[in-house]
Amino acid sequence: MVNLILFGPPGSGKGTQSAKIIDKYGLLHLSTGDLLRHEIGNKTPLGLEAQKFMDQGLLVPDEVVIGMISSKLDANPDARGFIFDGFPRTTAQAEALDKLLALKKTAISVVLSLEVPEEELIKRLLNRGLTSNRPDDASEDVVKARIVEYHNKTAPVADHYAKFGKFKKVKGDGTVEEIFDLLSKEIDELLGEKV
Ligand code: AP5
Repeated sequence: MVNLILFGPPGSGKGTQSAKIIDKYGLLHLSTGDLLRHEIGNKTPLGLEAQKFMDQGLLVPDEVVIGMISSKLDANPDARGFIFDGFPRTTAQAEALDKLLALKKTAISVVLSLEVPEEELIKRLLNRGLTSNRPDDASEDVVKARIVEYHNKTAPVADHYAKFGKFKKVKGDGTVEEIFDLLSKEIDELLGEKV
């Protein structure tokens, strides 16, 4: 079983590249951002609570997202592997994920971190904010708050996986296809090792 974390700041291309990876490698995509937006769309109590944080560019509390991921892992016992997108975002989430996967006798294979300059992140997100209805892309203040949350709370997750030699940086600026080629090489290498 291959389990990937696609890591990186807001706007680094995690969602864009996940869509291509699941098509090519048949992994199950688990995006906490998408799951939360689904809850918001359905106006569930969880969604309404999460929205208060998301609209300000702040992280939703750990227990909420860990609970969502735990349910999804339980609901998909036959998956051939997972790609985690936007999770884990804190060291507590990473530790919880390790435990959940260990219960299923598996583990994270590698963390692929998309490296993109900050001015490019801001440009991409504000650009998407012009055409999408994501409130957290609509203002420069909220976009910058998301990047600050990333530096304060999410960047340390890199150390958690680097300790185990599972953290790899990948150049995340360039065309979508160029970046996908770089990610595919990493995944092919991993699959080669697994054979
Ligand atoms: P989430 O939905 O995870 O958003 P994010 O990581 O902040 O940012 P994005 O998903 O917008 O970026 P991405 O890296 O996926 O890039 P994308 O491919 O979309 O989280 C949203 C919120 O939910 C968080 O702020 C938090 O409140 C909450 N949340 C979610 N998970 C949580 C967790 N685990 N714990 C606590 N809270 C959580 O691309 C962005 C744009 O760039 C697109 O328009 C795309 O078309 C464009 N683009 C992509 N690649 C390229 C390229 N190579 N060149 C040019 N443009 C590109």
